[in-house]
Amino acid sequence: MAYPYRVYDELRRDAPVCYFEPTGQWLISRHADVNALLRDRRLGRSYLHVATHEEFGKPPEPEFQEPFWRVIRAGMLDVEPPVHTRLRRLVSRAFTPRMVESLRPRVRAIATGLVEAYVDKGGGDLIAEVAEPLPVTVIAEMLGIPGQDRHLLRPWSADICGMYELNPSPDAQHTAVRAASEFAGYLKDLAAWRRANPGDDLVSALAQIDELTEDELVGTCVLLLNAGHEATVNVTGNGWWSLFRNPAELARLRADRALLPTAVEELMRWDTPLQMFERWVLEDIEVHGVRIPRGAEVALLFGSANRDEAVFEDPDRLDVGRADNPHISFGAGIHFCLGAPLARIELMESFGALLDRAATLELRQDPAWKPGYVIRGLESLDLTVAG
Ligand code: HEM
Repeated sequence: MAYPYRVYDELRRDAPVCYFEPTGQWLISRHADVNALLRDRRLGRSYLHVATHEEFGKPPEPEFQEPFWRVIRAGMLDVEPPVHTRLRRLVSRAFTPRMVESLRPRVRAIATGLVEAYVDKGGGDLIAEVAEPLPVTVIAEMLGIPGQDRHLLRPWSADICGMYELNPSPDAQHTAVRAASEFAGYLKDLAAWRRANPGDDLVSALAQIDELTEDELVGTCVLLLNAGHEATVNVTGNGWWSLFRNPAELARLRADRALLPTAVEELMRWDTPLQMFERWVLEDIEVHGVRIPRGAEVALLFGSANRDEAVFEDPDRLDVGRADNPHISFGAGIHFCLGAPLARIELMESFGALLDRAATLELRQDPAWKPGYVIRGLESLDLTVAG
């Protein structure tokens, strides 16, 4: 888990479709297959629109998890058409490239403020001081979460994400359920208040829409708030750690800021923040002559797809100027990341601000990875910085 990339090489070469006993999943490791299966409508993020747990041979979920699934399954990420189409359409207008481009000055101002304070202090933990607060502030402002409540978002999100790891412990499950309940309660109160006192924000806009049930409103807001910062935090941390491990590329980027757009894409490819996404097989499929039956689960290995030599020239090399870079880090198909244009702006602004304002950046110690495989991120990233 600390460095999965050599195992991925073996899988792609010798066993591109491989049944993995410990998790009961089919591992898919080649870029072309991951890309194709993400777009294949015979698979789904959920099966509950076509079958019950029983019909799919799955045990019913424990009752105590009901508040968790009620929130998660009401968001677009965990539903399939036609519900997915309806939910995505309702919010997609707020996330078009043009809409988010209009947010750039505000994103830049937040990034600059955070980076200046960080440089003035001589550095510290980049994750806590810059990587986390930037996307949390941006998405919280978009949704209209009052400033005094924003500190609640990060712990709720982290606790909810605990459920997405492979085999979460009973403790992690209970923590996730509690976080989902509290978050839902908070958003219901906020939506009620915004209905009476609308502002120029997404919660106010969604609260006016009659066709959205209360669960869907809550599920949509939880998804936007969580997805809207988790991976961005980790791309920032993993990205800087990648640059420190490739000092010539850091120097190249410093010397030529025009490389920022390709650098951001390359950092997302080289150390992929979300290593794996799962799909349920809704109708039998065949991949490289292997039949995968209805009811099975496939694990799409994004981290492996992003190092596939069939697609990327010299894939293990970090190349901040890589021009042809069809990485899969934002997914593909109908669930393709809605926030990709926003994430790109946030990353360019935060990397750019730090490069502009810090004359020197030094790593105080090698960082540690957080436990967990699916969400790949650092515990902290301690730097000494001089302006
Ligand atoms: C670098 C940062 C980000 C990465 C790597 C990332 C990655 C992804 C991926 C891989 C998916 C698809 C999952 C699947 O197919 O199973 C996804 C979906 C989604 N992302 Fe992002 N994301 C990022 C930032 C954001 C931001 C800033 C937002 C802001 C709102 C966001 C909102 C969403 C939403 C709403 C979905 C669900 C889309 C759907 O189901 O139609 N993401 N993201």
